[in-house]
Amino acid sequence: MPCMVAPSILSADFAHLKAAIDLINESEADYFHVDVMDGVFVPNISFGFPVMKALQKHAQKLLDVHLMIVEPDRYIEDFKKAGAGALHVHYEACNHLHRTIQAIKHHGMKAGVAINPHTPINSLEDIIRDVDVVLVMSVNPGFGGQKFIEHTFDKVLRLKQLIIDSSSKAKIEIDGGVDLDNALPLLRCGADILVAGNTVFSSPNPKEAIKFLKDPL
Ligand code: DX5
Ligand code: ZN
Repeated sequence: MPCMVAPSILSADFAHLKAAIDLINESEADYFHVDVMDGVFVPNISFGFPVMKALQKHAQKLLDVHLMIVEPDRYIEDFKKAGAGALHVHYEACNHLHRTIQAIKHHGMKAGVAINPHTPINSLEDIIRDVDVVLVMSVNPGFGGQKFIEHTFDKVLRLKQLIIDSSSKAKIEIDGGVDLDNALPLLRCGADILVAGNTVFSSPNPKEAIKFLKDPL
């Protein structure tokens, strides 16, 4: 049961960022997952445009950018210029989510809505036909290497049903604590894309870990 894999660059060794980029380029990974944190929406600060531009220069796969920031509308054009191919904004950070999603699409990017663990699936009923991706957070956002929240399985099942019932084309992407054990159950619940930071970059063989996540049978 193959799926798409997006290694999270947040878990890479930033002193050797080029080596991490090369590794993902050469691997079977589909996307680069890029976590941007502002220290306000989440308690951590990660990186911004200078790092994005370095990625843009060397990455040969789509930059899947996850904005954990308040007021993401202010930066949509800047992220497009910095090479984002997909842009995910948080449901909890957008007062006018429909407008934000349209603006992301207008700039030629795939538009994703990210939901925190406490945000119910039924909050998406009136936006599900407009988004390309739902990024389901399976940890509280802010840090790599956290423990997967088991309730996510049930949530993904309900999201899949909502997508079917609404005739939406949205893909389901799972972010946080994805590992070699929960990958297959997540796919069986309906996940299309798996983000993995720690599982890839702490592995003695990151390319093998990516290969396994792509087809975890
Ligand atoms: C968490 C980030 C994740 C994180 C995933 O806030 O959105 O993308 O880097 O890392 P792991 O796979 O280690 O949980
Ligand atoms: Zn992320």
